[in-house]
Amino acid sequence: MPATVVVGTQWGDEGKGKLTDLLARDMDMVVRYQGGHNAGHRIVVDGEAFALQLVPSGVLYEHIVPVIGNGVVVDPAVLLTEIDALNSKGVDTSRLVVSGNAHLIMPYHQELDRLTERFLGKNALGTTKRGIGPAYADKSSRVGLRVQDLLDAKIFRQKLDVVLKEKNLILTKIYNRPAIKAKDVAERYLDEIAPRVGPMIADTVSMVHEALDGDQRILLEGAQATFLDLDHGTYPFVTSSNPVAGGACTGSGLGPRDLSRIVGIAKAYVTRVGAGPFPTELDGELAELLVERGHEFGTNTGRRRRVGWFDAVMARQAARLNSLTEIALTKLDVLDSLDEIKVCVAYEAAGVRYEHPPYHQSVLHEVTPIYEVVPGWSTDITASTKFDELPSAAKDYVSFLERTIGVKISVVGVGPGREQFVRPS
Ligand code: GDP
Ligand code: IMO
Ligand code: MG
Repeated sequence: MPATVVVGTQWGDEGKGKLTDLLARDMDMVVRYQGGHNAGHRIVVDGEAFALQLVPSGVLYEHIVPVIGNGVVVDPAVLLTEIDALNSKGVDTSRLVVSGNAHLIMPYHQELDRLTERFLGKNALGTTKRGIGPAYADKSSRVGLRVQDLLDAKIFRQKLDVVLKEKNLILTKIYNRPAIKAKDVAERYLDEIAPRVGPMIADTVSMVHEALDGDQRILLEGAQATFLDLDHGTYPFVTSSNPVAGGACTGSGLGPRDLSRIVGIAKAYVTRVGAGPFPTELDGELAELLVERGHEFGTNTGRRRRVGWFDAVMARQAARLNSLTEIALTKLDVLDSLDEIKVCVAYEAAGVRYEHPPYHQSVLHEVTPIYEVVPGWSTDITASTKFDELPSAAKDYVSFLERTIGVKISVVGVGPGREQFVRPS
């Protein structure tokens, strides 16, 4: 049975965690395919909130096998802390497996992420400072340590010695920071972490294929989003992996023909954390209102998110880049109190109209959004359980987005809770 992908269509925090949790009811396995603990996926079940970083959002169901795929970068100490926190809330994490090919985030990655950001000064990207970029850079440079290296102390120490020679030169000579001692890192990773992570390490590529062969249903959970994608996002204001649906293949080991359903997650407006272009960005009172009503603060970093109107230009591009088969629209309830709502249907720059993002990023920085204004509904929709119960202006907003993007909207979120969604027929 082919697999389903959940992918962010904006700049992250669209509600991928909630949708993964929702879809996982009918799945057997949930695989995280890229990113690391830069992600924060919040799920609310019976009023209790879970903020997941590395552990796949399907973990809350006992029937799900949660898999951390080869495309993820894993800070094993964070993983263990997250597991402990879940266990203390009564969540069973014993089925969790981690790909041996996933790369490890090492202490020097975090340190270099912080230092590079400081060094960039006003040009900083606003990363999560979790070591994500430096860890993926080492993976590409072929000097990364992988999760499977935790199982072989000799190899682990050898690789660490080699890589630390260069990292320590950078730390001490360029950044004037103390050198990192190989012995300290090896003790922590091999003596403290490996005994606990070791039993979770698995050949996840074989697992996903055996699951498909056995007619099991697999959900691939993306982190970050299409416009944070290293290749297709607003470079350099992006993350260092490929959140787009194609990344679900490379990051899990499934082939392209194994994917059949690609669910793009879109907020009913747009948010972004960190620096970078944002054509429909709002400021002033309206921005404050959306931040407050949408609780737009980072799930793990606590940073205030920038907010703006829905951008159909981005959504159309996300539909292309990910082969979206449907869209799940989240946080419609956040717009409840507005009299009117704007939707960016195209951009304009130097007399040219753009239905898709301009190829040259310098143009993107200068575009003016072309808006259509639609009526608001000024009604609390958070208790709705059926699409037909929504006020007609809310239904019209959903249909308008569907038409302007050209992709069917299959789920609409009306609140953070697991049950707070409606399905257009
Ligand atoms: P993710 O990173 O894509 O998983 O999204 P986050 O969890 O970082 O941010 C989405 C936030 O919106 C979380 O706090 C969710 O609990 C919340 N959320 C998800 N869907 C809805 C919705 O339909 N309505 C409201 N009000 N909140 C939602
Ligand atoms: P989820 O999965 C929103 C942003 C950072 C920064 C840029 C690069 O919860 O949607 P990084 O630390 O990845 O090198 O930072 O990407 N970013 C996110 N923004 N949601 C996320 O994850 C993000 N993960 C990274 O703010 O702008
Ligand atoms: Mg998030």
